[in-house]
Order: sequence, then structure tokens, then C-alpha cells
Amino acid sequence: MEAGALVRGSRPDEVEVAATKSSAVDPVTAMDRAVEDLLRRRLAARRPDDAILGEEGDDVTGTSGLTWVIDPIDGTVNYLYGVASYAVSVAIVAGDPDPARWTPLAGAVHSVVDGVTWTAAREQGADRDGLPVQVRRADSLATSLVGTGFGYEAERRAEQARVLRHVLPRVRDIRRLGSAAIDLCLLADGRLDLYYERGLNPWDMAAGGLVAVEAGAVLSGLDGAPATRRMTVAGSPDRQAELVALLEEAGA
Ligand code: IPD
Repeated sequence: MEAGALVRGSRPDEVEVAATKSSAVDPVTAMDRAVEDLLRRRLAARRPDDAILGEEGDDVTGTSGLTWVIDPIDGTVNYLYGVASYAVSVAIVAGDPDPARWTPLAGAVHSVVDGVTWTAAREQGADRDGLPVQVRRADSLATSLVGTGFGYEAERRAEQARVLRHVLPRVRDIRRLGSAAIDLCLLADGRLDLYYERGLNPWDMAAGGLVAVEAGAVLSGLDGAPATRRMTVAGSPDRQAELVALLEEAGA
């Protein structure tokens, strides 16, 4: 993948923060911008009628009813510090590009450092480097390994910490790996049993969410709602429902 090669090939020893977004600890690097620019140029040349929704740029409107949802580096803090978990995430969705209403058609998550790529197409399954992947079916919530993530704003983090306090004693353990796209693909790949996070943006979940669903996961929000910014919960059907119930009990 050209975008992955760009990130892999030119990470300086000292990555600088070019700007911050939702808070002082929510960084944007020059590489986030360069990768998004590359993807936008490629898509504009090949798919001029499609819309683009990207983390680092202005929304592009289209006429085809299709939208490319791009996260140039999901896991920017890991990229900043040289921690190996960050990915380029690209998906195409039909209809309103809002997670509550969209229909994801295809997606790819390319984990930059190890070069692993997960792909999925609607109703055609999910693959890691061309080999099919399938979610695990943990025996119980209590023995489930659960991935999660945190936002960048202090108030949201305080709320996430409160919910985590309720969840942690009731599961095998928690992983906070720093890239929602990779978390969802690891779930698809059977390396996590469950995943939940509040506050995800469409580009964090578009491709990874489809990979997870196509690998057999249920993806939803709470109280019967679809997965949205308010809450995203993913896992094999039985365990996902149990985690939803636990999060509801916690008032998440
Ligand atoms: C972040 C990562 C992280 C998640 C945050 C996201 P970014 O995306 O996916 O794992 O916990 O909520 O914002 O900022 O690195 O693209």
C-alpha cells in the first residue's frame, strides 16, 4: 500500500507535532497531513464523483452517493512516540456518511510497522493478508480480553475511567493499544475477545468496523442503537451482548 510505504519509509527520529485538535494532547503530525493528501489526490484522480470524509482535511462532496472515509494515521500518538501500533485506514460507505446510517461496502486497515493488512467487503468476509479471519468465541465475559480506547479531552477521560472501573474487575483484562482501527481488526482476528469505546470518529471505525463484522462480530451501540460516536461495542454475538449490558449497568 502506497500510503503505508510513505509512513514506513520516512518516520524521522524526532516526530514533531504540527498542530493539536480536540485538546493539547490530541496531535496532528506532518505525516498525518501528507498521507491524507496522497490518498485524496489518488481518489480524486480515480473516483472524481465520490465524496471524501477524512480526519485531517475538509469534506469533499460527491454525486455518486459513495463516500471514502479516511484516517491517514490511526494511532497518531503511537506514531509520535515510535510505538509500533498505528495504521492507515480507508473505507468506502454508501449513503449518509454517518455511522448511524451508513452502509460500509469495503475497507482496508494497513498496520504500518508490521505491514499487515486487513481487508473486508460487504457480505464477502474479512481477510488478513489474503487469509480469512474469524472472531473468537470466548467462554464467558469474565475470561474475555477487552480492548478499549480513550478520547483526548479530560472530561471524557474522567467518564471513561469511571466506566472502566466497573468493567475491569469483571473481565480477563483490558488492552489499550492506541489505534481503534487495529483494535477492531485484532478482534476480527481473534486476538481480542471484545472492544468498546466512547467517542470514536467515523474514520476511526469505518474500515475496522466492517472487518470486524465480516469476521463474525456484532457491532452496536447501547440501548439498541447502532455503533456511533456515543458508543461502539464489538465482539462475538453472546459476549458482545453481555458487554453491552455491563456498559449499560455502568451508565456508560
Ligand atoms: C485515536 C485512536 C485511539 C482511540 C482514539 C482515536 P487517532 O485516533 O484510534 O485508539 O482511542 O479515540 O481518536 O487520533 O490516532 O487518529
